[in-house]
Amino acid sequence: MRVLLIGSGGREHSLAWQLRKNPKVTLLSAPGSSALAGLGEVKPVRVDDVEGLTALAREMRPDLTIVGPELPLVLGVADAIRELGLPVFGPSAEAARIEGSKVFAKDFMIRHNLPTASYAVFYDPAEARNYLKDASYPAVLKADGLAAGKGVHVCGSYGQAMAALTELAKLESASRVIVEEYLAGEEVSYFAITDGRTVLPIPSAQDHKTVFDNDRGPNTGGMGAYSPAPLVTPQLEEVILETIVRPAVEGMAAEGTPYCGLLYAGLMVSLSGPKLLEFNARFGDPETQALMPRCRGDLAAALLAAANGTLHEVSLDWDRRPCVCVVMSAGGYPGPYETGKPIAGLESAAALPGVTVFEAGVTREPRKAVVDGIETWVETPLTNGGRVLGVTALDDTLEKSIETAYKAVGEIHFEGAHYRGDIGAKAVRPGPLYGG
Ligand code: AMP
Ligand code: GLY
Repeated sequence: MRVLLIGSGGREHSLAWQLRKNPKVTLLSAPGSSALAGLGEVKPVRVDDVEGLTALAREMRPDLTIVGPELPLVLGVADAIRELGLPVFGPSAEAARIEGSKVFAKDFMIRHNLPTASYAVFYDPAEARNYLKDASYPAVLKADGLAAGKGVHVCGSYGQAMAALTELAKLESASRVIVEEYLAGEEVSYFAITDGRTVLPIPSAQDHKTVFDNDRGPNTGGMGAYSPAPLVTPQLEEVILETIVRPAVEGMAAEGTPYCGLLYAGLMVSLSGPKLLEFNARFGDPETQALMPRCRGDLAAALLAAANGTLHEVSLDWDRRPCVCVVMSAGGYPGPYETGKPIAGLESAAALPGVTVFEAGVTREPRKAVVDGIETWVETPLTNGGRVLGVTALDDTLEKSIETAYKAVGEIHFEGAHYRGDIGAKAVRPGPLYGG
């Protein structure tokens, strides 16, 4: 089976690594990365180049296209490749509005009675300012469109809300702003594969959004994850499936925009149950890096079945053991950071039992080095992004997975490397939500 995988990050590396466990899968990635080049062919077509990606699909005729990031989905790459008569795992542009427009998503949630925070939409900053004078705090301000993690501000006061409005005004995607009720609780990511009708649940995972330990500092794309999330008991999973995921899939179909792909429900769980913070139209990153090592089935067959509308015919098994992913990022991330720093220790980290190192922002270049006393050119891994690595460990217990992941992190060195020291700690020392 020839698979075209669109994307280049840690999520795509972990998907590709899992897909390639099926010996029948050959992989083509665009734009790919040096890690993906180790697993198949790569073509330097950017994720926002819908025409280029469509031309690539026309030329290569992949048996399955998997779209990693949200941007190409929102730009319509799934529609364009489907029009060629080729199966695609990923929603149409219309269905991807569930992530691409927060106003669409919130209105959709209300239309289908999905639990979420109350909200108001503003087209005019003056009206928003007026409303915020009497709002209760904390309040959450959100840009309507995709904002690469810069579109959400949790504001503790009117002053902070005014500063957030000024920041949002700098974003193209904030022509509409949502002011939302603040939800307290614990965040969980819940994923399901769907072909538009059938829902195939995926084990739960929990992300760590802020850059520093104890959930401090600015939000990032995600600094680490673990799966499963003990918070998601079988009972809670049933509630999530019955009150959120299935009604959402049915709602999309009923509105004439059936949703095919990975539906990501970002949830806030409190004692009053799960509420939707957002939908995403793709696999989470880094959650996927903590999920793929647990996958014990034919992922390619499952995603192809979803693309072909035959998901009811397949299932996926998952390793019961917990998996932990610690993200190593460049110093300064999510603010400005430097790239091109040599990375040492990848092999010794990966040699630890149960450890897989996924590459999110790594490139390889020949550099001069002395090997056995002789100066020679050596392919050297270099940092090439904010999030650099997802260091992942699968072990018998969550405590052991955490310990192994950090042991692997300890093997890896690059200038300015940053990582959180408390990935998974929340689940080992559960709070009141777990009944502990
Ligand atoms: P979003 O992109 O909508 O998931 O928002 C990014 C992050 O902002 C979430 O992961 C939460 O940590 C936080 N957030 C968003 N909406 C709310 C809300 N209504 N209440 C509390 N925190 C929120
Ligand atoms: N880890 C958060 C996301 O993928 O959106």
